[in-house]
Amino acid sequence: MPELNNLFSEIELGGMVLKNRIVMPPMLTGFAAEDGSVTDRMLAYYRERARGGAALITVESTNIEVPSGDHYLRQLSIGDDHFCEGLASLAGAIQEGGAKASIQVGHQGRYCAPFITGTGPLSPSREDPLDYWPESQEMGEDDIHRVTCELAAAAGRARDAGFDAVELHGAHGYLLCQFLSHLTNRREDRYGGDVVSRAAFPVEVVEAVRAEVGEGFPIVLRLSADEFAPGGITVEDTVVTAGMAEDAGVDCLHISAGSHQSKKPMSIAPMAFPRGCLVHLASRVKQAVNVPVMAVGRINDAILADSIMGEGKADLIAMGRALIADPELPAKAERGEEGTIRPCIACNTCIDESVMRAQPLVCAVNARVGVEEEREIKRAGTPRSVAVLGGGPAGMEAARVAALRGHRVTLHEKGPELGGQLLLASKPPFKEEIANLTRYLESEMSRLGVGVELRSTLDEDEVLGAEQDAVVVATGALP
Ligand SMILES: Cc1cc2nc3c(=O)[nH]c(=O)nc-3n(C[C@H](O)[C@H](O)[C@H](O)COP(=O)(O)O)c2cc1C
Repeated sequence: MPELNNLFSEIELGGMVLKNRIVMPPMLTGFAAEDGSVTDRMLAYYRERARGGAALITVESTNIEVPSGDHYLRQLSIGDDHFCEGLASLAGAIQEGGAKASIQVGHQGRYCAPFITGTGPLSPSREDPLDYWPESQEMGEDDIHRVTCELAAAAGRARDAGFDAVELHGAHGYLLCQFLSHLTNRREDRYGGDVVSRAAFPVEVVEAVRAEVGEGFPIVLRLSADEFAPGGITVEDTVVTAGMAEDAGVDCLHISAGSHQSKKPMSIAPMAFPRGCLVHLASRVKQAVNVPVMAVGRINDAILADSIMGEGKADLIAMGRALIADPELPAKAERGEEGTIRPCIACNTCIDESVMRAQPLVCAVNARVGVEEEREIKRAGTPRSVAVLGGGPAGMEAARVAALRGHRVTLHEKGPELGGQLLLASKPPFKEEIANLTRYLESEMSRLGVGVELRSTLDEDEVLGAEQDAVVVATGALP
């Protein structure tokens, strides 16, 4: 196991000292209450991620005006002072877990959900109706001023609630990004035109936020460096924007990619895309600015993360889905226990099956997501003998948890190898990542002392009459 000295070294960000270079980027959970306030479920989710060893946890995208800035059902809100008490407990939970706490503020512009907000969306230029979004209205200077003030006020609330930093959402096709892109900004006033004019609103927001939070409170700006859309934002545009943002007072640039105009799903790259597929963009921006630059995008292993910094391509590494899959990734990597990290396979169940369907977050490889307290794995009072039938992912997970609880576990698999449906699922080109889940679960079986019986079936009499105290049937999944 390499030393990972790059990853596990301190860095200072606008006066905030981070214990290592691993950052959890903002990711919507749908765990907020209907009114946008913090819930116990949300506290438990973020607390567990902070305890896992990441240096900085960025709380998901919040709305800044109630309700017209809303984007998702049960979106966390920072749009009024009365949310501060709950937000303070959220910052506290993260800090008690050992991480610094940041929170993302932004405005979704054209993609504010009218069925939640009850008002038509705003955007840099008028847009025709699209899918379930009605026509959007071009923002007047008064709208621009109001949203700027609301973003600044939201950042001030983040500071007052005890957060250590704030992240401005300038990426992924939302309002600030809509201003930065020619595809969505066709204005002819001082906010539209060349790249400098298109950056004027985001830069004014940075200045307003800095004025509100004062010096010594770090501001991270997230940008989509490349929109991956003909005529859209290019990395050379972003170099200009990044320089302006640096002059305006940001302390870190978080370099993502993609928008709703993109031809490829770059913002949350699926498993078919190579690991670290956006690092070249962070690297290009890093050459042009002096503040630390954060890379993101399919960086789901610590060795890759360390090498990105070793090659001087970024100063910080955001790991999103990887920390949903295994919040303990940083701590395990630091202890040299890479093999015990539950891998994110970039299946995008998290985004496609939950967030995009307005459901609370779930993860295909981590059944504890969102139920961290209820499903805490505790040692059983009386160890028992457990037989698990079926060596697919469900059976191996059942065996893993039973073994962690201290039971004596035997896993029976009819076939010659473990993996069940994952074996076939990982065979097509671009699906190889799935095999990492099989490898992880299989290695957990040996690490935890689960007895594995291959080519083994138990009939009804054997199940009922045998010596085991409990039988888990984990067979029959369909492809
Ligand atoms: C479930 C989910 C929700 C997300 N929500 C946000 C969000 O609120 N704000 C944001 O800027 N990006 C959001 N993202 C994008 C992530 O911050 C991150 O950029 C992306 O997942 C790629 O990083 P990864 O490959 O390490 O997961 C979300 C991603 C996922 C998977």
